Amino acid sequence: MTEQASGKVDMEKIVSLCRRRGFIFPSSEIYGGLSSCWDYGPLGVELKQNIKQAWWRAVVQERDDMVGLDASILMHPETWRASGHLQGFADPLVECKNCHLRWRSDDLTGNNCPSCGGELTEPRLFNLMFKTFMGPVEEMANVVYLRPETAQGIFVNFQNVVNTTRKRLPFGIAQIGKAFRNEITTGKFIFRSREFEQMEIEFFIKPGTDEEWFNYWLEERVNWYVKLGIKKESLQLRQHSKEELAHYARVCYDIDYLFPMGWAELEGIANRGDFDLVQHASFSGKSLDYFDEETKEHIIPHIIEPSAGVDRTFLALLCDAYDEELAEGEIRVILHLHPTLAPIKVAVLPLSRREKLVALAKQVYVDLRPCWMANYDDAQSIGRRYRRQDEIGTPFCVTVDFQSLEDEQVTIRERDTLNQIRVPIAELKKTLQAKLEGEDLFVLPPGGSIWKEGESS
Ligand code: GAP
Repeated sequence: MTEQASGKVDMEKIVSLCRRRGFIFPSSEIYGGLSSCWDYGPLGVELKQNIKQAWWRAVVQERDDMVGLDASILMHPETWRASGHLQGFADPLVECKNCHLRWRSDDLTGNNCPSCGGELTEPRLFNLMFKTFMGPVEEMANVVYLRPETAQGIFVNFQNVVNTTRKRLPFGIAQIGKAFRNEITTGKFIFRSREFEQMEIEFFIKPGTDEEWFNYWLEERVNWYVKLGIKKESLQLRQHSKEELAHYARVCYDIDYLFPMGWAELEGIANRGDFDLVQHASFSGKSLDYFDEETKEHIIPHIIEPSAGVDRTFLALLCDAYDEELAEGEIRVILHLHPTLAPIKVAVLPLSRREKLVALAKQVYVDLRPCWMANYDDAQSIGRRYRRQDEIGTPFCVTVDFQSLEDEQVTIRERDTLNQIRVPIAELKKTLQAKLEGEDLFVLPPGGSIWKEGESS
């Protein structure tokens, strides 16, 4: 990570919005919190779910060459000897002799404790895997690990997937799931936590086609972020130096995002070669090779791995979508989230709490609810209610006013342009569907009109 600050939104503003509106809370907060663990609140869980769905749709549902998997978090401990994590998944740790805080030595710029200036111990390697025990007896023979990456669940199931799906090379296995790392340096909100979620693809290819597929996935994955609305100029590719490469990787690029604290990794794309299948075949004694029908040869496929973090994608999307405007002397916070990702797609707002209006608005709300995550809000002025929805990224508000009682029409207001149209209630669902899919607001349904202020009140 560079020291260069992005000059965009402050991290404090994102943290404050997340807390204020129920996107993210500190884990077990009533007990003082648990360091580097976070709980996703009512809006956070929706956004997170939408990110995972968008990823799954792009890499599994819309492709013929990918299948999904959901492997267990706890795996046979031999997995981690074979993968090299027991020996190699470690960071150099130093401890301050004065205040006893611990630091990653490769994160430090000086030779002293960044907190109190005290003298530091010599670095020693610290394994990042969390240990626990399987069964009632806490002894070494029963040690198991919380997986530090989801990838290994895919490698050990390679043969199962080939046998049951009859997939031929090149093809991939995709998985979303929790991973755990006992990180030494944490902080920066959800950027680096000890429990996080990964979206990983292991793409199995014929040896010799590595470069072609590596470049394909680099482009594909950058485009995915751009399609979801992340600005191109906030993304960059960075190649790992030889010293930086993980023990399994031949080549690795990071897709970096310009976070508030500077450029940092959003996703890693690695060429893992045949490292993992060779290791697991050797440690398990089971063949993990693949019969190539074309050449009639048994081969060990190579693997290209695009590995993304759900939490980092969440953070990048929030930072990129965050905007402030001065409106009528007040700061209007807007989240310009892509409609696919917005936690709430539509809010239904009666202009007042008059009984007849409320009844009609609730009827509209109940009718929309099965189609999308919707909100009903009748508290405070209409202006305040619009602001509340802008702040959580709701792309459309539907206003029910007194004229609606007579003409059975409602107003749709668009978050980003503030444009408004008036449409028959009977056309509302179809119209919203089209607008959520990207159709211009001013393409009107039968009976629709451009709404002009004052006309309907
Ligand atoms: N299987 C390869 C692998 O795990 P990685 O670069 O260590 O590679 C992949 O992790 C992605 O997982 C990262 O790009 C990041 O988005 C996410 N990630 C890794 N460690 C994380 C942490 N401590 N907190 C949040 N996300 C993390």
